Amino acid sequence: MKLSVIGAGYVGLITGACLAKLGHEVVFIDVDREKLEAINDRKAPPIYEEGLEELLSQIHIEGSSDYGKIADSDVIFICVDTLADDGGSIFLDNLLSATKQISQVLSKRESYYVIVVKSTLGPGMTEETVIPILEEGGRKAGKDFGVCMCPEFLREGQAVYDFMNPARIVIGEYDSRSGEMLDQLHRSFDAPIMHTSLRTAEMIKLASNGFLATRISFINEIGNICKQLGIDTYEVAQGMGLDSRIGSTFLNAGIGFGGSCLPKDLRILISRAQQVGYQPELLRNVAALNEKQALKPVELLKKHIPLKGATTGILGLAFKPGTDDVRNSRAIKIVQTLLAEGASVKAYDPLAVENFRKLFPNIDYVSREEAMNCDAILILTEWEEFKELDYRGKIVIDGRRIEKAREARIYEGVCW
Ligand SMILES: NC(=O)c1ccc[n+]([C@@H]2O[C@H](COP(=O)([O-])OP(=O)(O)OC[C@H]3O[C@@H](n4cnc5c(N)ncnc54)[C@H](O)[C@@H]3O)[C@@H](O)[C@H]2O)c1
Repeated sequence: MKLSVIGAGYVGLITGACLAKLGHEVVFIDVDREKLEAINDRKAPPIYEEGLEELLSQIHIEGSSDYGKIADSDVIFICVDTLADDGGSIFLDNLLSATKQISQVLSKRESYYVIVVKSTLGPGMTEETVIPILEEGGRKAGKDFGVCMCPEFLREGQAVYDFMNPARIVIGEYDSRSGEMLDQLHRSFDAPIMHTSLRTAEMIKLASNGFLATRISFINEIGNICKQLGIDTYEVAQGMGLDSRIGSTFLNAGIGFGGSCLPKDLRILISRAQQVGYQPELLRNVAALNEKQALKPVELLKKHIPLKGATTGILGLAFKPGTDDVRNSRAIKIVQTLLAEGASVKAYDPLAVENFRKLFPNIDYVSREEAMNCDAILILTEWEEFKELDYRGKIVIDGRRIEKAREARIYEGVCW
């Protein structure tokens, strides 16, 4: 099929590249010239994902800022970023602008095509916001063109693997013809395909991430209690996880979740619930606990050294290992607090320094060895390489349970 992908970020680039690998013709539309150049000049990928560079070297794809290129596509994926502020208001500027341009280009198209929303939206928003704009050109959804909402569940860091090996494919469909086309596109994957309404698909995405976030805040709460009682939270989680009703994933206590999805999806879900007159107490507390958890390392460090004038070494800036993404990374809040308390920061990360530098241009970015040589070390991302370091003689506050760090002269785990 002829496919267009609007937005060549983590979701769009992976979606398009993997579908190109499966034999489809793919064009990317983006507003970011550097990303387009990287795609067209076959330079290093504009984002880091394991296996992406190799995948891009095996396929032919095209990047452009010209929406005219989508004119004869069978399926157009919308993968632009959507943002939510602390109140859960969702900023749709990029999505609205992309949708308007799609609508204009396709207003004269005679044949049927399908628009697929992959960007994360609140339940009901594809119908209430996207479809009216798509119909502005006079074409009718469900008749002249189809609309699907196909949420993305990939994990950053393993996104190529996850796209090619999905656990499930959810197709929210406005009309059955578009759902059938999308079904065909995904049929080669060995995964259950579930067809549902647009708003149910939107809710499946938010509820899935809401549940994962809840597990993390739950185990962090258990961890905070365990720390006071001298119980090892990780042993507790292991014991819990052996129960097949519970399972062992997302039970690593620590400094909580970050990234572009979990915090935002939770905020959207909370705000949507409030809009319809429901107070989602559980979800609000999951989010609030996660915010508090981020500051635990600083609280613990203060027990051992005065922060004013101290030099702190940060190990890990990415929101999780395997990615260069720092969106909502725990390191942001921690670095902000350390600086506000008068400490200086020397930070190390194997992949995420350049992205973090955009947020904090004035802190020191140093080698791993230099970060290890500070008054105290804070471990904020569970990179494999941190498991091999020599922590003896150091003061270490561990947010991610790096076993070897327990050899430190002074060691504090956040929940253990
Ligand atoms: N990153 C994830 O792990 C993940 C997983 C599931 C769902 N999502 C959702 O998918 C969506 C995209 O997330 P992402 O992480 O890929 O974002 P991203 O910021 O990495 O990529 C978005 C891309 O869209 C481009 N863009 C913005 N406005 C545009 C416009 N008008 N026309 C063309 N391109 C435009 C940007 O330049 C950027 O390259 C979001 O709604 C996100 O919540 C993300």
